[in-house]
Amino acid sequence: MSGCLTCATEHVNRLGVSSLVEIIVHLRMAAIISLFLKSMGSLRGKRIWITGASSGIGEALAQACRVEGAELILSARRLSELERVAAKLATVDSSAPITLQVLDVSDTAGIPAVVTSVIQQTGGIDILVNNAGISQRSYAVDTSLDVDRRIMEVNFFGTVALTKAVLPDMLARKSGMIIVISSISGKFGFYLRSAYSASKHALHGFFESLRMEVWNEGIRVMLVCPGKIRTNISLNALTADGSAHQTMDEAQATGKSAEALATRILQGIRHEEEEVFFGGSEMKAVWIKRYFPRLFSRLIRKQKPE
Ligand SMILES: NC(=O)c1ccc[n+]([C@@H]2O[C@H](COP(=O)([O-])OP(=O)(O)OC[C@H]3O[C@@H](n4cnc5c(N)ncnc54)[C@H](OP(=O)(O)O)[C@@H]3O)[C@@H](O)[C@H]2O)c1
Repeated sequence: MSGCLTCATEHVNRLGVSSLVEIIVHLRMAAIISLFLKSMGSLRGKRIWITGASSGIGEALAQACRVEGAELILSARRLSELERVAAKLATVDSSAPITLQVLDVSDTAGIPAVVTSVIQQTGGIDILVNNAGISQRSYAVDTSLDVDRRIMEVNFFGTVALTKAVLPDMLARKSGMIIVISSISGKFGFYLRSAYSASKHALHGFFESLRMEVWNEGIRVMLVCPGKIRTNISLNALTADGSAHQTMDEAQATGKSAEALATRILQGIRHEEEEVFFGGSEMKAVWIKRYFPRLFSRLIRKQKPE
């Protein structure tokens, strides 16, 4: 009798445990399927405006969005480079239109008129990618205040002005995504980057606040923090007197590809991520700073100023 009871208890226990396992397996499967379906969500038909699309990260992102069938609005100051990018994109099998819109984001007074015209042409913007930016290669003590201001004008005020101009249309439609290409320099300062790092830190303060304010209106804000990416950024970086650095830094040349970053950004869009980090071993510094700030300070001081 007691043997039978033990048998029955074991049976019930087994049934209970196996049912639990089944439920867990089902839940995990459902989660995996929903993640998979979400990741399948294509950008087809989405109207994506990318600034700084004439080079580097913006160009690679334009290519990745084009492959997904997105309608593109590409901006930068150099029309000839935008035309080069558009010709390259035309080889991708897609009938989605590409609009080229010359725009200097530091001309904040001119931005509202440009935005009105782009919205009239396209019917509205679904995703705004604030990517245009310039870097710096100069010590704070040597850098003229004019150069500090120029970097803030492009990286911070240009981004804020364009976002503010695009936002009312997104709010009216109760949908949209604003992407900001920040940097790991938006998480910690580094040699020769005082104004650049300040401009990227400022973006985090502004856009984290904005994220809260527009969340209930169906608008999402994503900040992207790349590490070293192989682009022309160091060539175009400003030196103490405002002239271009014109040097491909070793760290830049050995960085991750802009194409790989573009793929990661698309993943972030699909999952509506709030922050995206992407790079090589330098990304560890973000976490070391957060959890071991004094150790971070010692380690970062020992890095080569480049
Ligand atoms: N490469 C990296 O390692 C790295 C790391 C972290 C973050 N980022 C960020 O990524 C973004 C893109 O940089 P990138 O690496 O692709 O460098 P890049 O190859 O030098 O591209 C910069 C882009 O910004 C545009 N731009 C510069 N000033 C502008 C202005 N006043 N108005 C409009 N467009 C302007 C440039 O086009 P025009 O010259 O034709 O205007 C170009 O298309 C920047 O915000 C940068 O801070 C880069």
